Amino acid sequence: MKDTLQLSSFAEYKEAYQESINNPEKFWDAIAEKFYWHKRWDKTLEWDFTKPEVKWFEGGKLNITENCLDRHLEKLGNKTAIIWEPNDPTEESRHITYKQLHVKVCHFANVLKNNGIKKGDRVCLYMPMIPELAIAMLACARIGAIHSIVFAGFSSTAIASRINDSACKMLITANEVYRGAKPVKLKEMCDEALKTTPSIETVIVYRRTVEPTPMQEGRDKFWFDELQKVEKECPAEIMDAEDMLFILYTSGSTGKPKGMVHTIGGYMVYTTYTFANVFQCDHFAPTGQDIHAKKQDDVYWCTADIGWITGHSYIIYGPLAAGATTVMFEGVPSYPDYGRFWEICDKLNVTHFYTAPTAIRALAKQPLELVDKHNLSSIKVLGSVGEPINEEAWHWYNDNIGKGNSPIVDTWWQTETGGVMISPLAGITPTRPTFATLPLPGIQPVLMDAEGKEIEFKSKSSEGRLAIKFPWPSIARTIYGDHQRYKDVYFSAYENMYFTGDGAYRDATGNYRITGRVDDVVIVSGHNLGTAPIENAINEHLSVAESAIVGFPHDVKGTALYAYVTLYNDQIADDGLINEIREQVSNTIGPIAKPDKVQFVSGLPKTRSGKIMRRILRKIASKDTSNLGDTSTLLNPDVVQEIMDNVV
Ligand code: PRX
Repeated sequence: MKDTLQLSSFAEYKEAYQESINNPEKFWDAIAEKFYWHKRWDKTLEWDFTKPEVKWFEGGKLNITENCLDRHLEKLGNKTAIIWEPNDPTEESRHITYKQLHVKVCHFANVLKNNGIKKGDRVCLYMPMIPELAIAMLACARIGAIHSIVFAGFSSTAIASRINDSACKMLITANEVYRGAKPVKLKEMCDEALKTTPSIETVIVYRRTVEPTPMQEGRDKFWFDELQKVEKECPAEIMDAEDMLFILYTSGSTGKPKGMVHTIGGYMVYTTYTFANVFQCDHFAPTGQDIHAKKQDDVYWCTADIGWITGHSYIIYGPLAAGATTVMFEGVPSYPDYGRFWEICDKLNVTHFYTAPTAIRALAKQPLELVDKHNLSSIKVLGSVGEPINEEAWHWYNDNIGKGNSPIVDTWWQTETGGVMISPLAGITPTRPTFATLPLPGIQPVLMDAEGKEIEFKSKSSEGRLAIKFPWPSIARTIYGDHQRYKDVYFSAYENMYFTGDGAYRDATGNYRITGRVDDVVIVSGHNLGTAPIENAINEHLSVAESAIVGFPHDVKGTALYAYVTLYNDQIADDGLINEIREQVSNTIGPIAKPDKVQFVSGLPKTRSGKIMRRILRKIASKDTSNLGDTSTLLNPDVVQEIMDNVV
């Protein structure tokens, strides 16, 4: 094996893939050896999907921040680690070198310690996209605390339930932030949540604006004041490979969100390996002799928020462990106008640009001159993530942003998988619109038929449900506090397999196209939303008896939400009530979960066992009523016609 993490030709990819199947442990050993460990692991892999249990690099001792920071200092110390681009284009960008980031992380790690945070404690982060978010998460990892980042668009109810689920001891936030022209009062959201979160002992507040901030004596402390009290050096806590690195909540098809648990060693190895190979940035893990001879001027920008897994793995951990320059953008694509992304690409000489189809579709709707007035000549690689990319969006992206000569990597993966699973390697794997193409080394996808049998690949195209039959290093290890649910959701559909919840098509050459969710999760603008929590929120409205949420096709969001609502007898169905219902969802979950359409119905179509027939509701919402199937066996068949007649 070469002394690098990067594959550089399709032949090398194929060889690595074959090796990863034939000798998975040997394959991953060679990659893991390129990182900095205090002690080598005793056992590469132990797994049993029936329990389910997966352990990688057991017995290995390390700290991920030494891999993301310390080991780069000697040769890449003065290289920019993070470029921060503020919401307001007239405010200055910040360039933070690896050396500076190292100091800031260690310094803030001492703030955590000084406030009683120890190895294993959970710390909730509710932060805007500012470098301090990266600093806080790495500071947690430095001392072995477990971060739980809550996307700063979620409501106070959502913050509180996530804090309580994992009993976080500390909350880190900012006073407020501007998103476009709109101020968002993060601390106020937190204050509301804090009324019901008894485990929180300390709140650290970063002052992002000069607005006065209400602070609770004894509990709430300003970031800068706390820094003054502590030293700057902080040795890394030596962790086990299988210790928890973070918890990240994702929607489930039922009930409360699932706190997916990722552990340190495997996550680090896999996110770095996939970052280096999928994006082919100039940089890769610098333990090899030749690394620093390579050009080091790529600028990689992933537009995701760090509150999602994409930000965890491919803004922070993967790129930093690989020694790359990673961009963090605080704002939104539409401010001050819809040319902002392209303006930033030119300003920072972005070489690698990674975004979501929903953003591409929204930008493609704008006048092309907003793109064309920018040069975009620095761009070499484009990426897509979060939902299927439709053909039209793919071509627009390819022609107008990539100018026809920047490979698009359509990366399929999930919060649960930790890193990219199926994707082209930039410039190496032949790309094809709407196809995520081929599995990465180490990934063994399978398609399952309706009977639960594997559809073998016999150079024939087929469609089925996507499962994975062998563990990879960054698979989530459990759901925090609920291992049984982890087993039920991911390992019960098929024996000895991880079930993804997605459907997929595989062509005769083995290339995959992801067709979308096959469960009650809806992907809206690339955000993974469970229908059950939204229904629960709606049902809490005093006028509402029952509700059902389904997705319907939307030209920008990909999928948007349609709510069918039944009311208690004497309630009046009017626009005022529709607004109240949408607000109710916004307050309980967040604005992203607001249904686009609300239809009042006299009843919901149900099976005789009382299950809502979402398939029918989905078809009606999509205005596709040609083939509703047999509705006569329903408990209340008449309601179907009524719903069709009044569809909005
Ligand atoms: O349905 C798939 C879709 O997003 C789901 C995972 O959502 P989340 O855990 O929030 O992670 C999103 C970022 C990794 C998947 O089950 N999805 C993600 N990427 C793609 C995709 N669907 C099609 N093509 C993709 N490239």
